[in-house]
Amino acid sequence: MALKDVLIDELRDMYSAENQLVKALPKLAKGAKNPELKALFTSHLQETKGQVERLRQVFEHLGKKATGQHCNGMEGVIKEGSEQLEKDEIGASFDAGLIGAGLRTEHYEIAGYTAVISMAKLLGEKEIVSLLTENLNEEVAAAKKIVAAGAPILKAASKEPEAPKGPKSAKEKQSDKKSQEDEKKAASSVSKPSSKSQIKN
Ligand SMILES: [Fe+2]
Ligand SMILES: [Fe+2]
Repeated sequence: MALKDVLIDELRDMYSAENQLVKALPKLAKGAKNPELKALFTSHLQETKGQVERLRQVFEHLGKKATGQHCNGMEGVIKEGSEQLEKDEIGASFDAGLIGAGLRTEHYEIAGYTAVISMAKLLGEKEIVSLLTENLNEEVAAAKKIVAAGAPILKAASKEPEAPKGPKSAKEKQSDKKSQEDEKKAASSVSKPSSKSQIKN
């Protein structure tokens, strides 16, 4: 498989990821309680639509179809974000969870664009590098804005009392079980968790 084929595959992945975000960002915007965070997700939705448009231009330049690959990674990242939206935390603690979710999506995109830009540079595709760099710059700026808007939210959340925990839902129990399996599978390669540390669940 030539580098150009790898680039096209990765670009299709990015195109799917951006389209998935066009659907997911309004949910984050709707869920956010903090007005600044809400506005940030809304404005990034507009940017994301522009990014889809730039990716279409990239494909036009390559004479290829934009579709053909679903981004499983972004599907997973978005799923984690929707789980965050279902949490019964209140106030700033709820928004604190959305900051993590938002940052994960931006950094996933930053990784993707960094890779495709390096490939396009090697292939001498200047026009494509320039379009993709515009997208990358917006993702980097979005991540920075989330961190800045997030600082006062995290501070407020740190002052909120710990909410009493109800019984675990079936979904939470399933997730707990899977995480124990993750630990078990890695157990032979990593040191044992310290028995001295306080265990809370
Ligand atoms: Fe994006
Ligand atoms: Fe983004």
